[in-house]
Amino acid sequence: MNRHSRIAGTGSALPERIVTNEQLSREMAERGLETSDQWIAERTGIRQRHIAAPEVSASMLATQAAREAIAAAGVSAEAVDLLIVATSTPDYVFPSTACLVQKALGIAGGAAFDVQAVCSGFVYGLATADAMIRTGMASCALVIGAEVFSRILDWNDRGTCVLFGDGAGAVLLTAADRPGILASKLHADGRYENILRTAGNVCGGGITGHPFLTMDGQAVFKLAVSTLDSVARETVAQAGLELSDIDWLIPHQANLRIIQATGRRLGVPIERVIVTVDQHANTSAASIPLALDQAVRDGRIKPGDKVLMEGVGGGFTWGAVLAQM
Ligand code: UT7
Repeated sequence: MNRHSRIAGTGSALPERIVTNEQLSREMAERGLETSDQWIAERTGIRQRHIAAPEVSASMLATQAAREAIAAAGVSAEAVDLLIVATSTPDYVFPSTACLVQKALGIAGGAAFDVQAVCSGFVYGLATADAMIRTGMASCALVIGAEVFSRILDWNDRGTCVLFGDGAGAVLLTAADRPGILASKLHADGRYENILRTAGNVCGGGITGHPFLTMDGQAVFKLAVSTLDSVARETVAQAGLELSDIDWLIPHQANLRIIQATGRRLGVPIERVIVTVDQHANTSAASIPLALDQAVRDGRIKPGDKVLMEGVGGGFTWGAVLAQM
């Protein structure tokens, strides 16, 4: 009998504080920076974002999302033998955020590690967990995308600080005799490392390099639209399916214009595309599992539905996972 993996539960966590475009524009005006709700909404589709309080870390949001996914799956936390956290805003240089989440959940002994693939991190983590379950290395995996991107934003750079938000989303993946995860494709091209990055670190007790996110927005936009198109086609073909077989598309939530262009190119009507960028802004590795959880909980995504999740981001990285719920 073939061994597969399947999504048994989803969960999410959003910081309490919501900052609307209006509020952000007012705060930025006090610092002499000009922006507006109109500019942000027209160029990105973003209307608000959640911002974590100073004492809230990625591992805390991840733990909250993980607890929801565990409860939704109806398993006990002790069953989790693999824990992957995708994040670019970890609590520490080390130990991994995954180890901190494992401890917070009161479990021990299973594998736990972080995945660093920026906004593609969740699909990287999901594809990895699926492969580990199929090969028998694990049987119950938590895959979490968790970010506090507000910590690495230069709040004096209007070209980037309006775009991101904080949050976490999680799935619980279990071994199953039917798929589950139907296909996955992952890619990277490090030649584009400089178009989206936070090129800083800690060194000798201080900060080395540049600790804030920088981005060539237009270069990222173009690459995102072409890679989201190609990886969707590849992944669906690998599963032996057609794009018309897909019930729901969940692209990375960075910009509504990128999401709409992706849907149009793939021939997926916008009603079949899950959009949360208006409420959450870009939460990097958390954006896909947050959108998945929302659509599962509001009843749009139903058992049996085929959901194509695709990520794209810094590295440059991109990838997709096709899951039957
Ligand atoms: O996870 C992946 C991460 N990132 C992305 O996916 C982002 C991809 N890129 C984008 O979403 C878009 O490129 C942006 C939303 C970042 C920018 O939109 P754009 O249509 O490419 O605008 P632009 O960069 O060409 O800027 C247009 C104008 C500029 O002014 P000038 O030079 O025309 O006078 C900017 O200075 O808009 C100005 N601008 C702003 N104006 C008001 C830039 N940021 C702002 C702002 N408010 N916040």
